[in-house]
Amino acid sequence: MKFFLDTANLAEIKEGVSWGCVDGLTTNPTLISKEMKGEIDFRSLINEILRLVPGPVSLEVTSSKHEEMVEEAKRLKGLGKNVVIKIPTTIEGLKALKILKDLGIDTNATLVFSVNQALMVAKAGATYVSPFVGRLDDIGEDGMSLIEDIKTVYDNYSIKTKIIVASIRHPVHVREAALIGADIATMPFDVMKKLIGHPKTDEGLKRFTEDWEKIDKNKLRF
Ligand code: E4P
Repeated sequence: MKFFLDTANLAEIKEGVSWGCVDGLTTNPTLISKEMKGEIDFRSLINEILRLVPGPVSLEVTSSKHEEMVEEAKRLKGLGKNVVIKIPTTIEGLKALKILKDLGIDTNATLVFSVNQALMVAKAGATYVSPFVGRLDDIGEDGMSLIEDIKTVYDNYSIKTKIIVASIRHPVHVREAALIGADIATMPFDVMKKLIGHPKTDEGLKRFTEDWEKIDKNKLRF
């Protein structure tokens, strides 16, 4: 299973990448907007992100008409070979997915909330599909059952579109996504950090350190 960071924050990206657990990255207009403070411009921010991330980086179009989405996609793709174009799941988005597929540009269909949407974007040629589990949980639905259903349907028809579990809010989402066999989990930095923590690890390490301190240091030279 691949882990993507869902952020545009450079400090988080640098730190996460240093752990050796980041296979790629997703952004969206909200995440980019949070980082556009001070002097930094969009191109510099994206160039730095692309320099740091050792894998695909999803950048989202903001146009609503397919012709404009395609033009925007070409400009975004020009920023780096690892760029994947995030396209909203609409009729116009389907048209853009098809054109970009024919142009050989990788795409990520975003804001997916149903199996039928996942089927449609796959047929239109999406490289990745991003079902949003947390936002479904927010409205009292079971986000993770959508992942199970998409996985079943894609397997039924040997569909190659990769499933990115998105809108992850906590480590349980990651564990469940892995058990289902989703291709990728994209998560905020804080969630990735929580995956490694365990109170019994901290407790065990504390005891090992205390017991080691009891040994006469002269006996420990080697
Ligand atoms: C995925 O590509 C999206 O950027 C993201 O996961 C959205 O998450 P949110 O629902 O926490 O905003």
